[in-house]
Amino acid sequence: MTAMMTLQEKTWLDKEVALGEVEQIPVGEGRVFLVAGKGIAVFRARSGELFGVDDSCPHRGGPLGDGLLAGRTVVCPLHGKSFNVRTGECLQGDVDPVNTYPVREENGSMYLTLRYEG
Ligand code: FES
Repeated sequence: MTAMMTLQEKTWLDKEVALGEVEQIPVGEGRVFLVAGKGIAVFRARSGELFGVDDSCPHRGGPLGDGLLAGRTVVCPLHGKSFNVRTGECLQGDVDPVNTYPVREENGSMYLTLRYEG
């Protein structure tokens, strides 16, 4: 008798988390929120867009939330690696990308989406 293998597809579950008023983040800066036990830096771009990335830099754990934002690029204050806050890509290309999280604004409040493997 031949053993049957079952391929299980991954399923993903999205959960939206309320972060409070968007005004708590000055334009052009980031603030760190503790979400599901993890520090997530949310940046408020001058364009009005909001971006969420892991606060811990994939290089050596520097505080990305303290980094300077220019357009869609944040520069880590520890060693100067820069990351696209929309895609997570390291612009120097020598460090893993940082995790990104969609953040939306509705009536002045921010909502971040976490994705879980289900
Ligand atoms: S820890 Fe961020 S660049 Fe080194």
